[in-house]
Parts: sequence; structure tokens; C-alpha cells
Amino acid sequence: MIFFPQYIETKYKTTCLFRSPVDEDANEMLQFIKKLSAETDYILTYPEEISFDEATESSLLKAINQSPNQVMIVALVDGVIAGNCQIRYKDKLKNHHRAVIAIGLLKAYWGLGIATKLFELMIAHAKEKGIIQLELEVFEGNKRAIKLYEKMGFKIVAEIPNAIKYKDGHYEKEFYMVKVLC
Ligand SMILES: CC(C)(COP(=O)(O)OP(=O)(O)OC[C@H]1O[C@@H](n2cnc3c(N)ncnc32)[C@H](O)[C@@H]1OP(=O)(O)O)[C@@H](O)C(=O)NCCC(=O)NCCS
Repeated sequence: MIFFPQYIETKYKTTCLFRSPVDEDANEMLQFIKKLSAETDYILTYPEEISFDEATESSLLKAINQSPNQVMIVALVDGVIAGNCQIRYKDKLKNHHRAVIAIGLLKAYWGLGIATKLFELMIAHAKEKGIIQLELEVFEGNKRAIKLYEKMGFKIVAEIPNAIKYKDGHYEKEFYMVKVLC
């Protein structure tokens, strides 16, 4: 699905362009994912696990834009990719009332209200699609993200013990969070 481009201003007066990814974004998106995974422990991949190339990234972005069950918003500040947010709509008769959301912003752009705006627009998108339940996964230690999600109305409904094992050998729980939209 394509997200129609729009300029937004956050409550902290940061102006962003929100739009779907375009073909020319592939290399910057790849660098973005590598940087994000190096900056935070709270996404699943370590940087060295990101082994795909620009062509693969380009195909992935194209597939998302063309899919009736996925939408990605890329957030740009002064023309630079600051973050992205993606929804995957479930597509079976028994679960197409549900969708899964994920978000990531580079550290330089944290605390500017961008994630809040991305979530507001994605929640509106999901409501328009008739989604009843929006879901996400978050690591136990990701206090900033958990705060954001609770602010947006998500609640912890389950936890997976020892879901994550870091290189230093320590384990962390993962929470499953749900927001009912109706
Ligand atoms: C999680 C993440 C998306 C939050 O983005 P952000 O830019 O800080 O979000 P916002 O500026 O919109 O702030 C959202 C809320 O987080 C909370 N928050 C902000 N700073 C915080 C801090 N230092 N500690 C705890 N909570 C904090 C506040 O409740 C804030 O809302 P408010 O400004 O209305 O009070 C961002 O930190 C990120 O991308 N992290 C790395 C990747 C990641 O963890 N993705 C999520 C995987 S589940």
C-alpha cells in the first residue's frame, strides 16, 4: 500500500515528511537499518546479521508498497531518513481483524515526538481498514518504547521468558502488547 505523502509537525515543533519508501531510498534505508541496529540493543538483529544488499532492499520496499497487506511510512527530517514505521495486516479470514506494527528511529531523532505522530497516523490507517486489534512485540528493557506504546493505549497481554539472548549471555523477556481499536 502507498502512504500519501504529508508534512507533519510534532508537538516539539519538528517538521517531518511522512511518505512511502521510493526506489531511490534503498541505499539510505539499508544504511539506516545498519545504523539503527548498532545504536540500540532493542531490535532483533545485530548489525553483522544485515547481509542483504541494496538490490534486495529495493525489492523488499517495492514488495511492501505493492502489497495490499503492508504499509510503511518513512519519516524524513530535512531530507534525511530519521525512521520508519510499518504495519502488517493479517490476511486470513480468521485473523484479518488483526495487524502488527513496528517502529524504529535513529537516536539523533529520539524525543522529538516523531514516533508519537507515526503511531497516530498508523492507528488511523488501521482503523480505516477496519482493524479491531493492533499488536506489537517489545523487549522488556526497552522502557522508552514501552512508555510510548502505553501512551498510545497498548497494554501488555503476555510475556515470553528468555525470548532474547544477548552476546554476553544474558537473557531478556519479550512483552506482547495489544491495543483494541473499536
Ligand atoms: C522507541 C522509539 C520509537 C521512541 O521514539 P521517540 O522519538 O523517543 O518517541 P516520542 O518522542 O514520540 O516519545 C514518545 C514517548 O516516549 C516517552 N519517553 C520519551 N523519552 C523517554 C525516556 N527517556 N524514557 C522513557 N520514556 C520516554 C514519553 O512518554 C514520550 O511521550 P511524551 O513526549 O508525550 O511525553 C525510539 O526510541 C526508537 O526508535 N528506538 C530504537 C528502536 C526501537 O526500540 N524500536 C522499538 C522496538 S519494539
